[in-house]
Amino acid sequence: MLISMHPVGRCLAMAATCFAVVLVAGCSKPVQTPPAPEPADETALVTPADETALVTPAGEVTTTPVVAEAKSELPEGWAPLPSSAPTPDDNPSTAAKVELGKQLYFDPRLSVNGTVSCNSCHNVMEGGDDCRCVGMGILGRTGERNSPTVWNAAFMPSQFWDGRAETLEDQAGGPMVAAPEMGMASHDMVVERIQAIPGYVESFKEVFGEDAMNIKNATKAIAAFERTLITPDSAYDRYAKGELKAMNEQQVRGMLLFDEVGCASCHDAPLFGGEFYEFPSSAEEELVAKHHLDKDYGRELATGDESDRYLFKTPTLRNVTMTAPYLHNGSAATLEEAVKLMGTLQLGEDLSDEQVADLVAFLSALDGEFPEISMPRLPSTPGSSIVPMDTEDVSVSSDES
Ligand code: HEC
Ligand code: HEC
Repeated sequence: MLISMHPVGRCLAMAATCFAVVLVAGCSKPVQTPPAPEPADETALVTPADETALVTPAGEVTTTPVVAEAKSELPEGWAPLPSSAPTPDDNPSTAAKVELGKQLYFDPRLSVNGTVSCNSCHNVMEGGDDCRCVGMGILGRTGERNSPTVWNAAFMPSQFWDGRAETLEDQAGGPMVAAPEMGMASHDMVVERIQAIPGYVESFKEVFGEDAMNIKNATKAIAAFERTLITPDSAYDRYAKGELKAMNEQQVRGMLLFDEVGCASCHDAPLFGGEFYEFPSSAEEELVAKHHLDKDYGRELATGDESDRYLFKTPTLRNVTMTAPYLHNGSAATLEEAVKLMGTLQLGEDLSDEQVADLVAFLSALDGEFPEISMPRLPSTPGSSIVPMDTEDVSVSSDES
């Protein structure tokens, strides 16, 4: 294992940092801002040159400071996150569909031995990930890649590190039958499992009509729920909408650096991710070896095209303070380490500690407002168990995908 600190400990440390950020942001919220003229603040610099000499009626000369209007430093073309995610025509959202999707998302009975749900690896009570280097599913099996956040995945132009699923609907069927994830032998087995739960039969009828219990509709419902998992109104979003005090000086400095040094050419606003780029862009042998960056061929595994080798989908940087460890294999333990690596490997820049701190400050301004999520009640299976205790008794998927 590459990382010295235990992943859970590190995660808790990261989570503590996030809570501090959220609390600070929360504190300033209820305060009513007085109408213009605004009092001087750190963004409105008053210099001697701004002072206008006035002569009072008594003939005394005095000076009145002229407060410079705070100016937005937002780079051109940068936008805030839209307040809703795009919805495909063939899967319109309804409240009942979202609720069904939420139940399926939280239901561990969709895994072969009843232990793993989508939420196990994409914990929406937290950063939408699992705090692990790589995902861990049934029977402690591990995969090869880090679990990306589901928060704002609805804005992604494709899904997975290699983009092998185009939509959330396409994506959601995968983990149920992946051996190191939920381990079901087939989608038919998933449907049988859901069908054995009377409450779900009712809900599928209500949401999709008669004879509508199938894997396609299950994934549609899950995708509809995932489209509610968006986090607008981060400090950055409020700044981009003109609330110039939403970000502090260091965050603004970090934003300008993020643009100037070239991070934004791959992580562009408003999602700060989503497109494919080669990683690493420059082969620094020592770093490549240390982080095992030559092992995973990335997009080539999805397309079979050798020219796609080492292309990875750029992850969103929204809420990135909450999703350590980083990179497709979880080999960067801290956000500082990930940012420094990006400088070296993607930009050929040896970023100073100060620059890294400014960039990380900006990234913390991308922590959004999370919708309140309550635990759903799941339909029960009164009087019978549908989950076998012994996985030897059931066929377990050995599909590695
Ligand atoms: C065992 C852990 C695990 C479970 C369980 C799991 N996932 Fe994932 N998920 C991952 C990993 C790892 C990846 C990245 C895999 C890859 O890129 O090859 C991923 C990728 C995703 C993505 C793509 C996000 C992006 O930005 O590319 C979405 C969305 C997602 N999972 C949703 C789900 C849903 C819905 C379920 C339940 C049906 C689920 N996951 C179950 C670990 C898990
Ligand atoms: C040439 C394109 C490119 C540039 C430039 C770039 N990145 Fe990245 N970034 C990526 C890709 C691709 C990944 C995914 C790497 C992987 O597969 O592990 C990534 C991953 C990251 C991650 C890890 C996120 C996670 O959830 O694991 C952070 C943080 C990050 N970049 C920040 C930055 C910063 C800050 C800069 C500027 C100093 C920057 N990036 C410059 C393409 C780029």
